[in-house]
Amino acid sequence: MNILIIGNGGREHALAWKITQSPRAERVFVAPGNAGTDLDGENVPLSPTDFPKLIQFAKQNAVGLTVVGPEAPLTAGIVDAFEEAGLKVFGPKKNAAELEGSKVFCKELLRSADVPTADYQVFYSPDQAVKFITEREDAPVVVKADGLAAGKGVVVCAHRQDALEAVEKIARQKIFGAAGNRLVIEERLDGQEVSVLCITDGRTLITLPPAQDHKPAHDGDTGPNTGGMGAYCPAPILNEEMQRWVEEHILVPTVHAMKRSRRPFRGVLYAGLMMTKQGPKVLEYNVRFGDPECQPLLMRLKTDLLDILEATVEGRLEEIKQLEWDPRPAVSVVMASAGYPGEYEKGFPLRGLPDAEALPDVKVFHAGTALKDGKVVTAGGRVLNVTALGDTISQAKFNAYRAVKCIRWPGAWCRKDISDKAIG
Ligand code: AMP
Ligand code: GLY
Repeated sequence: MNILIIGNGGREHALAWKITQSPRAERVFVAPGNAGTDLDGENVPLSPTDFPKLIQFAKQNAVGLTVVGPEAPLTAGIVDAFEEAGLKVFGPKKNAAELEGSKVFCKELLRSADVPTADYQVFYSPDQAVKFITEREDAPVVVKADGLAAGKGVVVCAHRQDALEAVEKIARQKIFGAAGNRLVIEERLDGQEVSVLCITDGRTLITLPPAQDHKPAHDGDTGPNTGGMGAYCPAPILNEEMQRWVEEHILVPTVHAMKRSRRPFRGVLYAGLMMTKQGPKVLEYNVRFGDPECQPLLMRLKTDLLDILEATVEGRLEEIKQLEWDPRPAVSVVMASAGYPGEYEKGFPLRGLPDAEALPDVKVFHAGTALKDGKVVTAGGRVLNVTALGDTISQAKFNAYRAVKCIRWPGAWCRKDISDKAIG
């Protein structure tokens, strides 16, 4: 079967690498992909939101399954468009992708399903929000733009003044455009964060081992927020008993509530959880694999991913019994361009990739890379996700950083403490 993967990050490289291993996979296309996906698959120069061209390509190239990586095409209705064209596609439809596309929808669904989450209120005008913030006690809050804002629409505020500034920027200056037409203001939760992903066809649900991301740019979780500087899996903070609790009290009720609201959910449901003193609470839902959580997860998956994705799309996930995992943990370290998450230069050639990849139990997933005159060059802020397995988390960390040391380009940097939370 030919497969088309939509997206161009480390997540999509990991998907392409894993799907290529299926004995049933023939050609694996990635649109638009990066230098790594062109090595493990075949790049197609099409935009993830150009649905007519993607559909035309899928039809002309006998694509039997399309797998959507990022949220933007999902919330824009790529699954509806492909299905209308008679094509099989993995991911939620537009009305189910609202779970990530609208924080207001997400919070209201959580409340209706009695799923633990931070207390909140919805505001339809900046004046209402300002009045609320000014009149209540000066306690920490989180101000969230309702719509997608490239991961920047959430402002965690220690003081009233920060919250007022966030409202001003999001709802009055509209720095994220229409995403700021509605606001959610919620209580700030404290604790460690963990990501729990499941795959569901709307009836059956398979929970994947927990993973942990590292959002802040610098060691010790300091510095500006990023798309994620590294991840590891499994995350010992959620033991097996807690995983079952999360499945029963968070994931299953959410999938049922989606069905009741006539938005059946099919695809990857990703719960971003805060481990509070009162137990796990949902911070957010994403409707896709996490990036970079997907990379260590797929590094450990032994079951044929194509079988799982296809069974989900066909509504027969109950046929997939248990997933088989490599018992060894995996750690993925993001190597970034100088300046990221701010401005950065592109086009530096990468050296040492073959040396890194020659190390045992290592896979270098590409994120922001491109091919130029046959050479791999930097083309984004997060450039590589150097991923390794090890007998213990410390060993996986050691293996990943040993591979990182092989790779060089001017200004390359990474966090040095990925997975320390698990070890500490
Ligand atoms: P979201 O886009 O909703 O996941 O928010 C992005 C990040 O903001 C999360 O990963 C958390 O680090 C933080 N965050 C969101 N909601 C809260 C909350 N209620 N309390 C504390 N931190 C939060
Ligand atoms: N790792 C966070 C995300 O994928 O949104």
